[in-house]
This record gives sequence, C-alpha cells and structure tokens, in this order.
Amino acid sequence: MKIAIPKEIVPGERRVALIPDAAAALVKGGLEVLIETGAGAEAFHADAAYEKSGARIVPDAATLYGQADIVLKVQKPTLAEVDQLREGTVLVAFLQALTSSELVQRLAARRITSFGMEGVPRISRAQKMDALSSQANIAGYKAVLIAAESLAKFFPMMMTAAGTVFAARVLVMGAGVAGLQAIATARRLGAQVWGYDVRAVVKEQIESLGAKFLAFDLGIADAEDKGGYAKALSPEASRRQQELLAEKTKDFDVVITTALVPGRPAPRLVNKETVAGMKPGSVIVDLAAEAGGNCELTEADQVVIKHGVTIHGPTNLPASVPVHASQLYARNVTELLKEFVKDGALALNFEDEVIKGACVTHGGEVVNEAVKNALGVGKTA
Ligand code: NAI
Repeated sequence: MKIAIPKEIVPGERRVALIPDAAAALVKGGLEVLIETGAGAEAFHADAAYEKSGARIVPDAATLYGQADIVLKVQKPTLAEVDQLREGTVLVAFLQALTSSELVQRLAARRITSFGMEGVPRISRAQKMDALSSQANIAGYKAVLIAAESLAKFFPMMMTAAGTVFAARVLVMGAGVAGLQAIATARRLGAQVWGYDVRAVVKEQIESLGAKFLAFDLGIADAEDKGGYAKALSPEASRRQQELLAEKTKDFDVVITTALVPGRPAPRLVNKETVAGMKPGSVIVDLAAEAGGNCELTEADQVVIKHGVTIHGPTNLPASVPVHASQLYARNVTELLKEFVKDGALALNFEDEVIKGACVTHGGEVVNEAVKNALGVGKTA
C-alpha cells in the first residue's frame, strides 16, 4: 500500500503532512511511502532525509497521485488536485468539510474515501489524532508573540534605575486550546493576564496558569453542550456580552480572541464601539479571522489600525512554525491512519466513533452525518 505526501500548494503553507521520522515508522510497518520532491523543504526536511527514512521521492504531483493509495495532506485539495486522484484513493487532510460543499461533492463523485482531520472527535482515545488541538496550541502561542511584537510597551514589569514600568495587561477571550496556550505564553512573557470564556468550568484552568478569570453574569443557565463545547448565545445574550466586554476591555493593552462554536460563524465579542473605547496603541489579535472574526473590525490576513488600535487577523499561524507544526500534525495523521489501515489493508469500521466523525465521503456517497446536515447533501453518486 502506497502512502503519498504531496507538496502543499496553498500560498504561505509551509507545513508538510509527514516528517521523515514518521515516514520511517510507516515504512517499518510495511507500507510504501512516496514523497513529492521538495514537499518537506519549507519545514526544513530535505528529500535526502526522507530517502534515508526509506521513502521514495517522486518528481511531481501527477506522478504521485497516479500511484497513491492513500494521500496525506495538510490543506484541503483544490478541485484540480481531486481530479488527479485515482478512484478509490483515500485522502486525509483538513477538509473543512462543513463549509466546503463543492469539494465534498467532488470527492464523493470521484469515489474518494476522504477523512477530514477537523472531524476527529475530542474524546480521550482520539487525543493523539486531534490535529485541531495540536495546531490551535501553536496559534495561541504565536498570537501572543505577534501581540508582544506589535505592542509599543514591554510585556513584563521592570524596575529600572530610570523608573518602573508596569506589566502589560492582556485579556484572552475564549479559553479553549488556543486561549489557554495564549494565557500561558503571555504569563511566561511577564504580562498580567486575564482569561474569559462563557463556559464557567474553565475558571479553574485559567487560574491554574496564574491568570485571573474575568467573570460576569450573562443570565444564561448553561453555556456548555454535552460535548463540552460552548453553545451559541442568543442574540440578546450576545448583545449583553458585547456591552459588558466593552466596559472591561478599556483597561487592557492586548486582547487576544479565540472564541469558537464549532460549525458556526465566529461569535462576535468585540464590536467597533469596543475598539473605539480601547486605548490608542492597544493591540488585538483575532484568531477567528477565518470564520468572520470575533472582532467586528478584523480583516482576514491583514493588519489594520482602527481608532489607534492595531488589529491582526492571521488565519494560518501554524504555518509560521512549520517544524513543530509538521511534527505534531504528522503524529496526528499517522495515528488516524492506524485506525483504518490494519496489516497493510484498508479496514474501515463505520461503527467506530473516530471513523464516524472523520470520514466524509466513501463509496461515492457523503457518509458523515454532520457534513450532510451542514451542506444539505445526501447521496451524490
Ligand atoms: P476551542 O473550541 O478549544 O476553544 C474555543 C473557546 O471559545 C471555548 O472555550 C468556548 O467555550 C469559547 N467560546 C465560544 N463562544 C464564546 C463566547 N460567545 N464568548 C466567550 N467564549 C466563547 O477552539 P480552539 O481549538 O482553541 O480554537 C480557537 C480558535 O482559533 C478557532 O476559531 C480556530 O479556528 C482558531 N484557530 C486559528 C488559527 C489561526 O492561525 N488563526 C489556527 C488554529 C486555530
């Protein structure tokens, strides 16, 4: 069975789906590994390192796709890439299937068995396959570095002969994976840090990182669903939240926003009035830029200055840490691979929670319930 790793073609994407160490483990397990030449270059893995691990280098994507049984990617493929895959190929990538109708239909029509890394459920057994978390952790870390670089102040308190400077005040909104890493990183840089989330259960986690929990009552009974995710707020509760946050946000030098409700547009936490109320020179880093932004004035992949506040909307921070992002992603995909490749052959068990969550298309059909519901698609072939 041939496992194929193409070079990522999305501009700015520096990650690679498999690093040489992970390739070596697959080869040892009896699989053949094909790498498109240069696939690991942006993450500092030369072709020679893959060859040393037992993989074979192929000269271009067409040759690679022409032989592949299983393709491992980071970014979702373009339709042109899908069309190069042979019928029955297995594809693993961040498909963003819930919002990629055309791609999902094409994958089904081409009878590709596709897995979306974003669909791996956040259950204990699947933690090692959870690429959303491994990459969000990187984004939380990098968001703080961007904020520190952009802020015209120190992060730590300093007592110098020329006087004392006070520590920067940082507010992290949304304390999931990215948010908790942002809190920890800002603390390491010496800032005074507050964390905020609708789910009250995270108070303890925020405090265990040495930060304070920003608390206020939205008058809602339970903000958490059965899966441990936040529920979307009602328009009334959302308005109230924005008003209360506007009041609190005035005091902060840095606001990092990471709020997410899966499958929904980013919850709006910071409106334009809130930005106008912040001190000139303050910085916002909005990690939800791709889903519309937690801040009303965010522009995806841009840095804008509004009311004297610098607002960053980066959408692919993991690509800016390609060495570790690829290392962690490679572990995530190879662990997922073990779930459906047994003794060198495909073994799909659709009763399994991980397969049910991650598999999007199979046998010419969209098989994933969440994707079917989100896209309103059923049988397509
Ligand atoms: P997560 O699901 O672990 O955390 C999201 C948090 O937001 C949860 O704790 C949830 O309770 C909270 N939340 C939801 N609605 C809220 C509201 N109205 N008010 C306050 N808190 C609310 O998600 P994760 O993995 O930490 O990702 C966070 C965000 O970062 C996502 O939007 C994700 O797409 C994004 N991301 C961005 C990257 C980038 O490069 N820009 C890279 C990776 C992730």
